Amino acid sequence: MLSAIILAAGKGTRMRSVLPKVLQPLGGRPLLHHVIQTTQRLAVRQAVVVAGFGIDAVKSACADMSLQWAEQAQQLGTGHAVAQALTQIRDDETALILYGDVPLIQADTLNRLTGLIDAEHPLALLTLQLAKPTGYGRIVRNKAHKMLSIVEEKDATEAQKLITEVNTGIMAVQGHHLKQWIGKLTNHNAQGEYYLTDIVGMAVQDGFTIRSTEAENEIEVLGVNDKAQLASLERMYQQVQVNALMQAGVTILDPSRIDIRGDVSVGMDVSLDINVVLSGNVVLGNQVTIGAGCVLHNVQLADGVKVAPYSVLEDCIIGNDSKVGPFARIRPGTVTQDHAHIGNFVELKNAQVASGAKINHLSYVGDATVGAKANIGAGTITCNYDGVNKHRTVIGEGAFVGSNSALVAPVSIGAGATIGAGSVITKDTPDAKLTLARAKQVTIETWQRPVKK
Ligand code: UD1
Ligand code: CA
Repeated sequence: MLSAIILAAGKGTRMRSVLPKVLQPLGGRPLLHHVIQTTQRLAVRQAVVVAGFGIDAVKSACADMSLQWAEQAQQLGTGHAVAQALTQIRDDETALILYGDVPLIQADTLNRLTGLIDAEHPLALLTLQLAKPTGYGRIVRNKAHKMLSIVEEKDATEAQKLITEVNTGIMAVQGHHLKQWIGKLTNHNAQGEYYLTDIVGMAVQDGFTIRSTEAENEIEVLGVNDKAQLASLERMYQQVQVNALMQAGVTILDPSRIDIRGDVSVGMDVSLDINVVLSGNVVLGNQVTIGAGCVLHNVQLADGVKVAPYSVLEDCIIGNDSKVGPFARIRPGTVTQDHAHIGNFVELKNAQVASGAKINHLSYVGDATVGAKANIGAGTITCNYDGVNKHRTVIGEGAFVGSNSALVAPVSIGAGATIGAGSVITKDTPDAKLTLARAKQVTIETWQRPVKK
């Protein structure tokens, strides 16, 4: 049996933020969520999060995840943090100790680590060789390469500081032994903290051999302490995700100029131009093309959809072979069927747009149903809000709405109806007829220009 303990109590002073460190976003998600999601990929019985600084914010950011909590009111060290979770750990299970600010650890690596635990080997460590080991705890071994202890940078001798094998902090420990060793920790060290790492020396004292495995990739064990490290890990993470998309066959015009902040699934022959941001849940069908500078959040694009540059789409579904943009804004609740054309400077909100309808220029269509093959002229506005309530506009199939019309909702435009340009429509209009609502054009025959006196 396996339980995860995730240490997340620290404030993250160097972030200089009111947000607890573990809630700072990486790839659009809190650091802590990455670790929790990785534990969900392991066969863990439970994940216990040790929180302290900003515990309420941390808990509410994880409200929809199935977690156990332990509180560490004062941050007295990593050993003290683990101690807060021990009542929730069974004697006969393995505890996997993880860090809320080491977000990219991979399930494979952790499985390898926990696989090292057996009756003769109750403690296993994840280590890493680093050319520049400064700041990390060093792994002290004897001539026979047997691990003896971990020494923290601040407690290390000059000779120990030359050691390049470092402690990633991540370890697996048999529950019964963990409780015994944690119970014996003291804070007699340079930082006056209860060091979790001291249990390694204790295990050696008890006659055990410590097994270790190395992280395959440095990115897995990189911690985040300040905004510069956050930004650099973000770039590495983006590269990993972009590589995965390219492996799935996506054409990425420039892999260094695209951001993925969520889950993206793709069909065949998708193409993404520069400075595209995909966030939340994004589903892209076959042959979808997204132009430069587009931002998509929780969006589903069916096969053949083309989104032209600088369009912003949120919580919407776009049907097969539809065209969007350039400079379109599609807001939540919008659904288009196939072959819809949504052009430049068009804003749609909660609009249901049927097959082949065209809204090509400078329009606002909100809380509206647009029938199949309707053509909405440039500058058409649905006046959906009376200052208090929202009302719907229904535009019939094949209707033609002249440019610069205002449709004052609630109102419906008949199927095949034509609306003269510049009309303010306040009453329902019949099918297949021309309706105009504007002052008649007049010419004053007797008028003369004034002349200068
Ligand atoms: C720790 C290790 C060090 C290792 C390094 C890897 C110890 C004593 N040292 O050092 O060997 O090389 O990680 O990054 O374990 N935390 C709490 N409560 C506390 C203290 C810390 O929850 O009282 C959490 C922090 O929020 C953080 C993590 O534990 O997520 C690590 O703490 P930190 O103080 O950064 O440890 P390091 O000094 O980096
Ligand atoms: Ca520290």
